[in-house]
Amino acid sequence: MAISIILPFLPLIFFSSFSSSTIDRLSGSSSLSVEHADDVLTSPNGDFSAGFFPVGDNAYCFAIWFCEPYSEGNRTIVWMANRDQPVNGRKSELSLRKSGNAIITDAGRLTVWSTNTVSESPVFLYLHENGNLILQNSEGGVLWQSFDSPTDTLLPQQLLTKDMQLVSSRSQGNFSSGFYKLYFDDDNVLRLLYGGPEISVYWPDPELLSWEASRSTYNSSRIAFLDSLGYFSSSDNFTFMSADYGERFQRILKLDFDEEIENKRLVTWVREKMKQAPEMSSWIEMIIDPKLEGKYDKGRMEILLEVALKCVAEDRDARPTMSQVVEMILHQENDSELV
Ligand SMILES: *[C@@H]1O[C@H](CO)[C@@H](O)[C@H](O)[C@H]1NC(C)=O
Ligand SMILES: *[C@@H]1O[C@H](CO)[C@@H](O)[C@H](O)[C@H]1NC(C)=O
Ligand SMILES: *[C@@H]1O[C@H](CO)[C@@H](O)[C@H](O)[C@H]1NC(C)=O
Ligand SMILES: *[C@@H]1O[C@H](CO)[C@@H](O)[C@H](O)[C@H]1NC(C)=O
Ligand SMILES: *[C@@H]1O[C@H](CO)[C@@H](O)[C@H](O)[C@H]1NC(C)=O
Repeated sequence: MAISIILPFLPLIFFSSFSSSTIDRLSGSSSLSVEHADDVLTSPNGDFSAGFFPVGDNAYCFAIWFCEPYSEGNRTIVWMANRDQPVNGRKSELSLRKSGNAIITDAGRLTVWSTNTVSESPVFLYLHENGNLILQNSEGGVLWQSFDSPTDTLLPQQLLTKDMQLVSSRSQGNFSSGFYKLYFDDDNVLRLLYGGPEISVYWPDPELLSWEASRSTYNSSRIAFLDSLGYFSSSDNFTFMSADYGERFQRILKLDFDEEIENKRLVTWVREKMKQAPEMSSWIEMIIDPKLEGKYDKGRMEILLEVALKCVAEDRDARPTMSQVVEMILHQENDSELV
């Protein structure tokens, strides 16, 4: 069971990095330009940077990333302001307004994103050591923070609360909003929902009652967080500890991108269909690619699926060995040839 619980998340691990000299705060009516590579805010510990990040051909999003690259030339993005509305690589900028608003404008001066804030006293924008981008006024009041509007990632010390959600990315290279979201449902349970053309709950298994899935509906605080040691805890009583629990690493909790979730979901989905249909022949019809137009050997398909499902059984000990698998397939092949 533990395996299927952790599947939707990708706990990435990074070593700490050191500082580089860039801007540590934006104040007055200054701005960060998409055209200047140095226009990047960096946290005092040098762990995080915020600036314009290329997401496509002449398309940029204002993002926060780990300064230490994930691999050569690859940044780990932990937050994005305008993931669904990238801006042009020329003239776009993030700027502070005297009114206390922080805005991102495109080349045509169109505002594509803003913090929607107002302040009578001067404001400044800075990146906290924990990766939180904060807009504060000179009286110390926090007007806005990126921790309150996550994209697909939760950082340690960042709370996932009742009005927030994590939304997957389309694909590994496409950061626009995908179809999966992790959020607290009306019954106080943390759920992963597929919000594509057909809406469905993916996790926990919608066929289970909350308590059967070891979730509690009683705690209405609706708070989840990942601590810096790798322990995740949610107010619906769902918890897990990362396999490498301990202080050494920086961690994030990231919703996989759509395709990855799809892959992991397929097995669960087949199992659901199996439960719904009394007869194997009918659930097979529900899961076979309609493009085949029924042109397949039903008997063989059943056998292959049966074997495939045994191989992914929740209980490892129930899984057959590779030679048993080969045996089953060969054996059945012979059987169906006799029919
Ligand atoms: C990302 O995917 C969306 C939806 O399919 C698409 O509209 C957009 O152009 C893609 N963005 C990039 C940079 O490929
Ligand atoms: C970034 O990482 C992905 C997947 O790990 C890889 O396919 C890609 O080549 C990497 N890009 C660069 C520029 O190294
Ligand atoms: C929370 O889970 C623990 C064990 O995982 C269980 O003993 C406890 O009763 C649960 N609490 C609620 C409120 O469901
Ligand atoms: C509800 O959950 C929060 C966060 O996990 C926890 O601090 C609080 O003690 C819980 N309340 C009850 C009544 O269990
Ligand atoms: C399947 O039949 C072939 C001959 O048609 C035979 O050589 C093979 O041993 C059989 N396999 C099994 C598992 O019975």
